[in-house]
Amino acid sequence: MLENYEIRDKMDAIGINAFGDANQLQMMKVDVPTINDDQILIKVRSTGINPIDWKTREGLRQKRYDFNFPIILGQEMAGVIVQVGKNVKDFKPNDQVLGYGVPSEMGTYAQYYAMDAKYAAKFGNQISFAEASGIAMTGTTAYEALFTYGKLLKGQTVLILAGSGGVGSLAIQLAKNAGAKVITTTGTSNIDYVKSIGADEVVDYKNDNLVDKVQNVDLVFDTLGGQNQVDAFKAVKSGGTIVSIVEQTDQAVSLSKLYNITFHKIVNRPDHDTIIKLAQLISADKLHVRIADDLPFTLDNAKKLQNHSQTGHTDGKLVMTLQY
Ligand SMILES: NC(=O)c1ccc[n+]([C@@H]2O[C@H](COP(=O)([O-])OP(=O)(O)OC[C@H]3O[C@@H](n4cnc5c(N)ncnc54)[C@H](OP(=O)(O)O)[C@@H]3O)[C@@H](O)[C@H]2O)c1
Repeated sequence: MLENYEIRDKMDAIGINAFGDANQLQMMKVDVPTINDDQILIKVRSTGINPIDWKTREGLRQKRYDFNFPIILGQEMAGVIVQVGKNVKDFKPNDQVLGYGVPSEMGTYAQYYAMDAKYAAKFGNQISFAEASGIAMTGTTAYEALFTYGKLLKGQTVLILAGSGGVGSLAIQLAKNAGAKVITTTGTSNIDYVKSIGADEVVDYKNDNLVDKVQNVDLVFDTLGGQNQVDAFKAVKSGGTIVSIVEQTDQAVSLSKLYNITFHKIVNRPDHDTIIKLAQLISADKLHVRIADDLPFTLDNAKKLQNHSQTGHTDGKLVMTLQY
């Protein structure tokens, strides 16, 4: 069915005018963004809710980005194109796309989202907007950690910390698709789930000791930090690699030297080729997103979902779906 291309001047968006807890979130009326010649305007149908969103809300990313208020939150979404810039060749109005929003004050918790066309990709009709909205940023993070920095190869063994998380669950599938052996950590209730998406061995963090169970892996993908990261140094072999998306402590620097480990702390960035690849995999049924909760786009639900994300115990992706 064709979308209505009539674009309004104002739109609903959820954001903040001050840093703090979820009570700072507000439903706002803001201008619909305008696009430049390389961009597309998307009518958002579903937006992913990620830990990065509440970290932005709390002001934890201000040193890096220096955002001005109001800040509309959200960095990944799926929707339908309503306008294309004149240099854009790959898309046309009414294409359904998923996209990775670069860090900015204009996020994806909104009715319309303007973005560089190179960070969007079409996806198959059989995939729901909810599923598609949970892949661009999360999947790129997993992909870059495993392959760009981790240099994971077929036949190697990777330990993925928190394989039931949004990033970890995509990492398991990507590593498995690449022919690696996958060991992962998760809680008791998620053991069957991580096995169902490809984990060969599972360490139950509630009952098992990682250091006793895992040694000599080629690569650790750390999505947790803290003591889990410290323990990972005993799980990886000399000459191996740890890629963390959470932190690099002084202790990590010392342990890297002590155990002869290459350590990377990465901050993910959108990448055209990776986003296209992820969209192809999800469309070909080779990559799946588990939806933990999918709620309508309201202020109360944004608060609820961000609070849920902040517990660190969400089993899959949290998304908000917009109805028109
Ligand atoms: N640097 C970057 O560019 C970048 C990009 C994306 C994300 N990140 C960061 O990466 C982290 C992970 O993101 P995410 O979206 O994957 O988080 P998430 O979906 O919220 O992760 C939740 C999952 O972690 C599991 N978990 C919690 N504690 C665990 C433990 N001790 N051992 C094993 N599993 C545990 C939970 O399992 P149970 O429910 O069973 O406890 C749950 O399934 C966040 O801090 C996020 O900000 C960084």
